[in-house]
Amino acid sequence: MRAKVLVLVLGVVALCAPGAAQAAPPPDIEQRIGALVAQMTLAEKLGQLQQLDGLADGTARPEHARLVRRGRLGSTLNVRGAAATNALQRVAVEQSRLKIPHLFAFDVVHGYRTIFPVPLGEAASWDPPGAEDAARIAAREATAAGVRWTFAPMADIARDPRWGRVVEGAGEDPYLGSAFAAARTRGFQGEDPSAADRMLATAKHWAGYGAAEAGRDYNDVDLSERELREVYLPPFKAARDAGAGSFMTAFNTLNGVPATGNPYLLRSILRDEWGFDGVVVSDYTAVLELIKHGMAADEVDAARIALMAGTDVEMVSRTFNEHGQALLRAGAITVARIDEALGNVLRAKYRAGLFARPYVDPARERRELLRPAHRRAARRAAARSMVLLRNEDGALPLRRTLGRVAVVGPLARARKSLMGTWWGDGRPQDVTSVLEGVRRAVSSGTEVTSADGCTVPCHNTRGFGAAVAAARAADATVVVVGESYDLSGEAASRSSLDLPGRQLDLVKAIARTGKPYVVVLMNGRPLTVEWLARNAPGLLEAWFGGTEGGPAVADVLFGRVNPGGKLPITFPRSVGQIPIHYDARPTGRPFDKANKYTSKYLDSPNTPLYRFGHGLSYTTFALSNLRLGATTIAPTGSVTASVTVRNTGRRTGDEVVQLYVRDRVASVSQPLRRLRDFRRVTLRPGQSRRLTFSLEPEDLAIFDADVKPVVEPGRFVITAATDSRGGLRAGLTVAAG
Ligand code: NOJ
Repeated sequence: MRAKVLVLVLGVVALCAPGAAQAAPPPDIEQRIGALVAQMTLAEKLGQLQQLDGLADGTARPEHARLVRRGRLGSTLNVRGAAATNALQRVAVEQSRLKIPHLFAFDVVHGYRTIFPVPLGEAASWDPPGAEDAARIAAREATAAGVRWTFAPMADIARDPRWGRVVEGAGEDPYLGSAFAAARTRGFQGEDPSAADRMLATAKHWAGYGAAEAGRDYNDVDLSERELREVYLPPFKAARDAGAGSFMTAFNTLNGVPATGNPYLLRSILRDEWGFDGVVVSDYTAVLELIKHGMAADEVDAARIALMAGTDVEMVSRTFNEHGQALLRAGAITVARIDEALGNVLRAKYRAGLFARPYVDPARERRELLRPAHRRAARRAAARSMVLLRNEDGALPLRRTLGRVAVVGPLARARKSLMGTWWGDGRPQDVTSVLEGVRRAVSSGTEVTSADGCTVPCHNTRGFGAAVAAARAADATVVVVGESYDLSGEAASRSSLDLPGRQLDLVKAIARTGKPYVVVLMNGRPLTVEWLARNAPGLLEAWFGGTEGGPAVADVLFGRVNPGGKLPITFPRSVGQIPIHYDARPTGRPFDKANKYTSKYLDSPNTPLYRFGHGLSYTTFALSNLRLGATTIAPTGSVTASVTVRNTGRRTGDEVVQLYVRDRVASVSQPLRRLRDFRRVTLRPGQSRRLTFSLEPEDLAIFDADVKPVVEPGRFVITAATDSRGGLRAGLTVAAG
């Protein structure tokens, strides 16, 4: 009874003082967990390990209240909104025997109600503090709606753009991916995830999910220990080090063993090596899927394997609850393991601040969602995510004072697609389209016309005539093409990366008018757009920009914002080049046009269409004077690298200076370059800035033959560049002790 009163009082305090300062974490969490565990029946324990899905409209299912009341359900996903969460929470903290609060999870990936650019786009900003801010705002909105646990950040490295989920991560590079995984974790959780406006983050999908064979979602993953540790694990480690409160198991197998039943991942690396003490949740029905994987004979077996491997919470399927008692009786699982999983769940509930503040204030929800400041931040983030791929003869920016601008293409009026694949609680009616954004951006005398031309996937060209007529009658045409939201994301693998349907033909038809035009790409993955790369006078990669994506596109098109994004993932020329990434190892037979027996294709260049780190600006920049703080260091030493970046053009603009390292001769062949640091800076015309980077031993370390990190004496090349090719180089020697 006393516990109940305490919870209620704290709940009332929270309601009266929404957004109050951070709740101090209870000093004796472990003791309290122990005391709770001691009171729980086995059924109640298993109940805390169960997570069920709400209804599509964000409310709970009727059975949820019944289960919560009996202590049989510890968390839900997708139940959201102050009314729905408070109602179910009331059952948990007022009507269940032990009053353990309920935990509400939701995929708040790139925004809750105010939608920010998709994560791949955000990564193209090369602005981790910007991503941190976006996650902070997302947490502020989501917690106002009762959500205390997000299934983000997705920390999967992705090097195969056929895989639709490349849109959800930060691209191909482990260093960039780590910077974003950490920034997003910090943004969601802050210093203390129990604060009223922060929530628990989840590093997902643990692990290797991005390496799905042939880019087909959920497919088998086979990675060497080296590839796993060099490429796929670092962003997860960064999220863990930033304090991520949970991890989610992946759907895939890793070297034959499904991740949800994989003790090497869940126990050896995550718990033993990394000391993780948060909660591990399975992906959606992933425990049950152990049967289809051919690892578990039946549901009983699936429960045993997943639980004993280290999965704490079962999402949606119910094998732990249905078979836990029998498994325990048979000695196939242990009380110790159940209590460990339970402890992880209860710890997460303490960390989320639920015991102190189980309810949410509906007035706060009304106040927080879609605040003007959030929209402004989303617009800025979207504009900063854009990458100017090509700009011939100053095709961009467009003048605001043109007599007539046509905005054509199947995505010109799109609103839902701008929200991308994880739109949280976003609403299409909140979104401003590119057409509308352009209308608002031009001066009052400018007429804006529009025609779709075609739809994204379909093959009919009946609408071409109207779009071509609009282009013919206009002083400039903006053609908005790409993917609709459902062509990227989960279960959206593609075997062709061409513009779907007849969109390229539409662009060609516009081009044939001979009138000025530029192309805006809206998509969630690299596309094979070689014709555009050769012919479009202006080509802007706008990704799925979110609620304010349309105005942000207009900001860039008309030069209110000078684009400064850079590609976080390589754009191939064709699907045949995949996998293609900048940090390739050299071969023994490097490309040589004159020699047939070198590493190349007979029918394609080796080079990508657009390389990692590429992105233009309306101004120009030059790097000069790369200097190292020392030319020789010890293996335990660090060194600074300084370089000057100067705006050599006539507009204020942003450059991303990228620092790469190559270990020239090592016991294990090393990539030609590896990103080790970067900085995005804004410079006025003529302005220059000296940037200093610090290279620590971990930046120079390689994984040796035993896949252990080591700094090997020898010669290194340090490169400062504005993309992943060329740049200024300096030699560094690491001398043996
Ligand atoms: C399946 C997805 O793989 C995962 O990313 C997501 O968090 C869960 N569904 C829950 O929606």
